[in-house]
Amino acid sequence: MRSSLLMAIGFTAVATTATTFGQGSNLERGKYLVEEVARCQECHAPRTETGEFDRTHWMKGATLIGVPPAPAPAGWHQKSPDLTSISALWTRWGQDGFSKFLQTAKNPRGGKAGPPMPAYMLKAEDADAIAAYLKSLP
Ligand code: HEC
Repeated sequence: MRSSLLMAIGFTAVATTATTFGQGSNLERGKYLVEEVARCQECHAPRTETGEFDRTHWMKGATLIGVPPAPAPAGWHQKSPDLTSISALWTRWGQDGFSKFLQTAKNPRGGKAGPPMPAYMLKAEDADAIAAYLKSLP
């Protein structure tokens, strides 16, 4: 389980260069970037007792499994927030704020997320697709 967290961190390097996705719709592209490239679910989706992703709470935030590196970096977060459309984040940031955060790694107030949230610097089209997909989640 610890390795899946490390794997997720490794995948974020790939996410910054993923720019093409066939002819799929924006939503499909966002789903692909979230689930297969950046693997946001590794940290933002809770798991069932058997270790599978809990699809009934998809992207609704989770307590991270595994331990932080020792010593933990300053500001380490053991919990990740809900990213779905009904979350407090969406109310506060809106789709534009969300997309900008994924392009600049800065939230609408200019702050950065604490570790282990990766500092994504995605292209606008990738960030927009991810924001659109997350907004489609109940
Ligand atoms: C390696 C684990 C990990 C991965 C992968 C990850 N996140 Fe996070 N994310 C976190 C943690 C932990 C926080 C809480 C950090 C904080 O509150 O400062 C967080 C916070 C956030 C926030 C709120 C930031 C803020 O300033 O309040 C957003 C938005 C977010 N993540 C989106 C995403 C998206 C979209 C993806 C995939 C493209 C993703 N995250 C992938 C762990 C992760």
